[in-house]
Amino acid sequence: MTRVLYPGSFDPVHNGHVELVETAARLFDEVVVGTLMNPSKGGGLFTLEERMELLDECFAHLDNIRTTMFDGLVVTLAQQVEADFIVKGLRAVSDFETELQMAQTNLVISGMHTMFLPTASRRSFLASGLIREVARLGGDVSEMVPEPVSRRLDEKLKGSGR
Ligand code: PNS
Repeated sequence: MTRVLYPGSFDPVHNGHVELVETAARLFDEVVVGTLMNPSKGGGLFTLEERMELLDECFAHLDNIRTTMFDGLVVTLAQQVEADFIVKGLRAVSDFETELQMAQTNLVISGMHTMFLPTASRRSFLASGLIREVARLGGDVSEMVPEPVSRRLDEKLKGSGR
């Protein structure tokens, strides 16, 4: 039985993340999707609780997925959930440099390996930061995110006067 941790900030989860989780769910016995703060990205739009609620809604159709949230090191969470390794997505070569550095750091501090899965090229442009920006400025993000995310973004940004 192989259990993997797919960590990310998921602020918000988008169709590239969904594709990655669906692929991982086919390859491995169990996938734990963990939402964490990215210290280099500031406070974000959604709280960790809200991000996890959205992850739960988006992955309700998969029975070998569970979601969690964590404030701390990704490797601490990986050890807590007893993951065999971490899974991360690669959209383009530009992701590789930072992801490799994180994977090597995580390996040195914990012995936990990271496996990379490529994103399908038609989704390689997707980025939560750009999705937040388009939504904040009144653009249509419905082609880029699952329906519950599109709805929640609308509610959240209407409430804040955008
Ligand atoms: O979706 P993201 O923003 O690319 O995810 C990045 C994330 C949350 C996985 C990364 O920022 C992270 O691992 N955060 C937890 C803190 C940590 O473990 N830092 C050391 C990484 S080598």
